[in-house]
Amino acid sequence: MAILWTSLAISILLRQALCRLSYTPVLPPPYPLAVRNPYLSAWLPGNEAWNLPFASAQFWNGLNLTWSVIARVDGQSYSLFGVPSLGPGVQAGVLQRADYTSTHTTFTVTAGAATFVLDFLSPVSPLNYVRQSAPFSYLIVSAAGNNGATPAVQIYSDIDNTWTGQFDEDVQVGWGYSLTNESTSAFTLTPGGTATYSEYNDTGMWGTSVYCARPNNSTLTATVGGLDAVRAQFAANGSLSGPWEWQYASVVAYSQDLGKVGESGTNVTFAIGYWRQSAVDYLGDARTAYFTATCSDPVCGCVHVLEDFAAADAEAHTFDAAIAGKAASVAGANYSDIVTLFVRQAFGATDLTISEDKLDTGDPLVFVKEISSDGNVNTIDVICPMAPGFYVLAPDYLRLLLEPIMRYLATGAWPHDYAVHDLGAAYPNATGHDNGTAEQMPVEECGNLLTLAYMYQLATGDKNWAQQYQGLFQEYADYLIVNGLYPTQQLSSDDGLGDIANQTGLAVKAAIGLNAYGVMTGQRNYSDIGKQFAKTLYDDKAGTDQNRTHFTCSQGKDDSWGMMYNFYPDVLLNLNTFPASAYAMQSSYYPTVRMPGGVPLDSLVDFGKTDWMTFAAATAVAPGVDNVGVRDMFIDDIHAYMANGINTVPFSDKFHLQDNGSFVTGQWSQYKARPLVGGHFAIMALDGPGQSGAGATKSGGNGGDESGWVQITYRRLSSYL
Ligand SMILES: *[C@@H]1O[C@H](CO)[C@@H](O)[C@H](O)[C@H]1NC(C)=O
Ligand SMILES: *[C@@H]1O[C@H](CO)[C@@H](O)[C@H](O)[C@H]1NC(C)=O
Ligand SMILES: *[C@@H]1O[C@H](CO)[C@@H](O)[C@H](O)[C@H]1NC(C)=O
Ligand SMILES: *[C@@H]1O[C@H](CO)[C@@H](O)[C@H](O)[C@H]1NC(C)=O
Ligand SMILES: *[C@@H]1O[C@H](CO)[C@@H](O)[C@H](O)[C@H]1NC(C)=O
Ligand SMILES: *[C@@H]1O[C@H](CO)[C@@H](O)[C@H](O)[C@H]1NC(C)=O
Ligand SMILES: *[C@@H]1O[C@H](CO)[C@@H](O)[C@H](O)[C@H]1NC(C)=O
Ligand SMILES: *[C@@H]1O[C@H](CO)[C@@H](O)[C@H](O)[C@H]1NC(C)=O
Ligand SMILES: *[C@@H]1O[C@H](CO)[C@@H](O)[C@H](O)[C@H]1NC(C)=O
Ligand SMILES: *[C@@H]1O[C@H](CO)[C@@H](O)[C@H](O)[C@H]1NC(C)=O
Ligand SMILES: *[C@@H]1O[C@H](CO)[C@@H](O)[C@H](O)[C@H]1NC(C)=O
Ligand SMILES: *[C@@H]1O[C@H](CO)[C@@H](O)[C@H](O)[C@H]1NC(C)=O
Repeated sequence: MAILWTSLAISILLRQALCRLSYTPVLPPPYPLAVRNPYLSAWLPGNEAWNLPFASAQFWNGLNLTWSVIARVDGQSYSLFGVPSLGPGVQAGVLQRADYTSTHTTFTVTAGAATFVLDFLSPVSPLNYVRQSAPFSYLIVSAAGNNGATPAVQIYSDIDNTWTGQFDEDVQVGWGYSLTNESTSAFTLTPGGTATYSEYNDTGMWGTSVYCARPNNSTLTATVGGLDAVRAQFAANGSLSGPWEWQYASVVAYSQDLGKVGESGTNVTFAIGYWRQSAVDYLGDARTAYFTATCSDPVCGCVHVLEDFAAADAEAHTFDAAIAGKAASVAGANYSDIVTLFVRQAFGATDLTISEDKLDTGDPLVFVKEISSDGNVNTIDVICPMAPGFYVLAPDYLRLLLEPIMRYLATGAWPHDYAVHDLGAAYPNATGHDNGTAEQMPVEECGNLLTLAYMYQLATGDKNWAQQYQGLFQEYADYLIVNGLYPTQQLSSDDGLGDIANQTGLAVKAAIGLNAYGVMTGQRNYSDIGKQFAKTLYDDKAGTDQNRTHFTCSQGKDDSWGMMYNFYPDVLLNLNTFPASAYAMQSSYYPTVRMPGGVPLDSLVDFGKTDWMTFAAATAVAPGVDNVGVRDMFIDDIHAYMANGINTVPFSDKFHLQDNGSFVTGQWSQYKARPLVGGHFAIMALDGPGQSGAGATKSGGNGGDESGWVQITYRRLSSYL
């Protein structure tokens, strides 16, 4: 009984706390904090935000990361973030509001006579290759006096070995401290004896964690020592002086004394990084971040990113406003809330690399980790759902992601006559599958590859790239001619459903892939075969029920149905493989099979996938279909799931659509932080591709022509501001 009353009291307190707070635009499942690449991926569960002073940052898989911010206001210390147990005399700040945009997560916390804003900025800058690939994220702490007060403020922040893939308190890590030219401080933490490219539960074990700071009209002190003692020292003194010794349960820590702060506020900025000199093993060649051509060590990295802060922040504000504005104008505020939350998640699964040996910036390649589902490298049926995000923001990324796959296939080492599923089973080892035993999705990946190649060509006008691999593309098109209409028992992208024969969705993919290949290469006969497939599936009802009310899940099974997300590229690329009436039919069918939480993936399951829902939503507004009601049904279902407050893991694209005894409606399923959320751009993408790299600088850097290239880069987006 006592327990019951206690938990009731807590839940009432919790509800009161939640009500007083403002979450803008919504309370998301997780807040991205520092999300830049598969190994720099720190989040805060949404339901912990109200409790920010005590809440711990987490790696995407839930492992706690020590990262704290404590402020001292007129001599009284307040935890602002990341202090699960307060030291003696330390109080907790009070969260007032939490906000997110495409690149920023900001928390406003009051403490004594001051108000603090903790602004976690993870830039997404796809056309500025240096900035995009810098393995760093920013934390800006701003302090202002309340109501005319001018309190004396010091700010403290620390991290520990958890950022190095080492979670024991008695772990030995090598620490370093550099003070460059009196202005930038850099702490480094490097574990000993770990193998290059090795992971512990998906965290990187072979890199170096970096924490950087510089004074900004403030006095910076730093130290290394036991967590409790160092925090107590700050609480007592507002500065750090020692012991400069890594011992049991240690942290590396900064204090910034801001002096008296007024109403207008004072800001200090930290940068947190994870440095992998060898970032990805691509067929035996080490790839490093593109950024390494600018900075060859983490300390230089600190100086660079702190110098670049003002420009990166300015770009981020332009970028955020452009994305939110365009999404809202295309499909309303709910769509904007969705798209903006997932930009960091999508780009944060990628690494933009160059050869570590040659540092050849003319040969960038992008790698993506199939986060949480299996860790595969450059899975083609992950690139496919992500593709709309790249199409809108940086179509060149389609080539940069496909190029490593095509180079591998061109070596001839992959022994099959259909496309490979991925470049390696375990990121960051892109070592290929020379013995041919990768996950097999023959029709799925052949169709995806042809469609993606054409998507890139259409968006950029670059016809040369596909030309180089013409022989391979033709081989896969020929494979689809023979195997695409009635696929043998095999997996599709939704491999959890198992092997099914004659999947209608795969036949649709083959039809559109063949047409895309025909248009891409000017070979009409391939397009004609694709359209013939479409005619068989739709006009001749091989892929529909006999009354032609819907497309089936497998051909011949009239009472089955499937979500035909594979139609989407036909609409996006204006291929007209299927007639608009096919899309109109299928779109108007979806509301009839909707469950309480949304439309399932197919008639066999009671879960949905938000990437495919967005593809279906976009197809519903194809020219001649114009079913805005169905588009909005999908958007609102995704929005309701995203904002329902019951999920806390980095957003899963898969979720439950009805209460079934084990799960409730709107509960996440199985996956975390997957990059497929790039697919949420599908509706926006219908408005045309973004700028390709040709018009943008790839050098980026400190100031200079930033405003110029931001204008060019986001020209299309900005027209919606
Ligand atoms: C992670 O941190 C939270 C505080 O946010 C704490 O409640 C939880 O016990 C920690 N988990 C582990 C395994 O330390
Ligand atoms: C201080 O940082 C906050 C949060 O990033 C920002 O809103 C504000 O504009 C900054 N102030 C100045 C003067 O740069
Ligand atoms: C030293 O810091 C100043 C800014 O305080 C910066 O302009 C300069 O480039 C830095 N020099 C080096 C070598 O990092
Ligand atoms: C990648 O391969 C290396 C050996 O080259 C191995 O030590 C490492 O554990 C592998 N990484 C993963 C994530 O499997
Ligand atoms: C980490 O990995 C170990 C061994 O694979 C596993 O037992 C453990 O549950 C994992 N922990 C987390 C938090 O993922
Ligand atoms: C520090 O403050 C002085 C005087 O208020 C101002 O002129 C200067 O620009 C400030 N420096 C920085 C780095 O903000
Ligand atoms: C505060 O600073 C003084 C002088 O540096 C030092 O002697 C003292 O130990 C510090 N207090 C704590 C709690 O570390
Ligand atoms: C330094 O402080 C000024 C004034 O508060 C602010 O505009 C600027 O953004 C701060 N710089 C950093 C790197 O935080
Ligand atoms: C194929 O190679 C992978 C490693 O790349 C290995 O795990 C697997 O056992 C091999 N399969 C066969 C059949 O040799
Ligand atoms: C697939 O459909 C075709 C055409 O209806 C049929 O001939 C074939 O037997 C089916 N395959 C399987 C495995 O059911
Ligand atoms: C197909 O349509 C006919 C005529 O409207 C109807 O009688 C029949 O029940 C329908 N069949 C199914 C399976 O819905
Ligand atoms: C936005 O989505 C919510 C569900 O989160 C829904 O209740 C609301 O009606 C939607 N708003 C609009 C304007 O469609």
